[in-house]
Amino acid sequence: MTPINKCIRENSTELNPIWLMRQAGRYLPEFREIRSKNKDFIKLCLNENLSSEITLQPIKRFNFDAAIIFSDILMVPYGFGQSVKFEKNFGPKLGSISLDAILNFDEEKFTNKLKPVYNLISKLRDEEITNGKDVIGFVGAPWTILVYVVNKISPKKNLREDFFNDKVLINRLLLVITKFIKIHIKNQVQAGASIIQVFDSWAGLLKEDIEKFIFKPTHEIVEFTKGLNTPIICFPRGIKNYTEFCKIVKPDMVNIDYDVDPIQIVKDLRIPIQGGLDPKVLLTDKHNLRKNVLKYLNIFNDHPYVFNLGHGILPQTEISMVEELVKIVRDFK
Ligand code: CP3
Repeated sequence: MTPINKCIRENSTELNPIWLMRQAGRYLPEFREIRSKNKDFIKLCLNENLSSEITLQPIKRFNFDAAIIFSDILMVPYGFGQSVKFEKNFGPKLGSISLDAILNFDEEKFTNKLKPVYNLISKLRDEEITNGKDVIGFVGAPWTILVYVVNKISPKKNLREDFFNDKVLINRLLLVITKFIKIHIKNQVQAGASIIQVFDSWAGLLKEDIEKFIFKPTHEIVEFTKGLNTPIICFPRGIKNYTEFCKIVKPDMVNIDYDVDPIQIVKDLRIPIQGGLDPKVLLTDKHNLRKNVLKYLNIFNDHPYVFNLGHGILPQTEISMVEELVKIVRDFK
């Protein structure tokens, strides 16, 4: 069984599997090299040869236990017909789209638009280097995708004031977005993804109605994925109460952010846990890195745990620090 599947399905504490969120990204010179020649980010994601090469770059360098596909959570809105662009030093910019346009968007057309993503997964499965490793597919959670679809740019710290003005529209959007997210999960599993991770990057923005916008739709996705006999990891970044989240949403594993106290969470949760280390620790020195990594490894020593970060790895991160991190985790007994 692949390492993360073993951790989840057998509650194994033997291995200390490791992978990093955003492991294929700008801190790698070999990624920047490809990226500089491919200005259109969506096109790059839809180029199976390049996206598989990018996915495998960190595996070749660091021998991580899992390959997360090189793609983006905004491929779902792209798939149902909303325009998505990434601007340098600004982030994503989405175009306007009506509810009716999404409601009328054909499921088969969605799958066809995103075919290269599914082909990428099959291609990764065929590579020898992924033998014995997990191939992680992913989606954005309904709430986070809703935020991008309506807000059209990253909300940074605040939502547009008029976000909830049209409640009927918001509710219907949430339903149709959830439908397309499920199709995207099913297609990734059919192509060979051995785990699905759900990124709810803006979970922390919501002050009320968490039940309606986060718990309920995410639980629906969790149940759907379990029905496909595939483990599902949730990352509700910034949510105040991880314990309540896990009780209601019931993911197979939860990724904690760096604000979560690991000592408390290990007492509160019975399910496998992933992540936690502040990515900024990788910007300090090796001594401090060791101290912080050992803290997490010791706290989770008797708990099914996958080593990861509390958010994506930062572009300024030095390669030698990632090498050191992997060494510390591998040497830990
Ligand atoms: O983890 C991985 O290595 C897999 C690939 C991956 C990407 N995006 C590639 C990417 C994953 C899992 C994502 C998820 C994603 N995308 C999230 C959830 C996680 C999080 O960071 O909160 C979100 C919110 C997005 C949307 C998104 N994509 C934003 C806001 C940006 C611009 C900001 C930035 O970091 O540049 C992206 C672009 C993006 N997606 C890049 C990569 C490697 C950077 C592209 C580049 O400029 O070279």
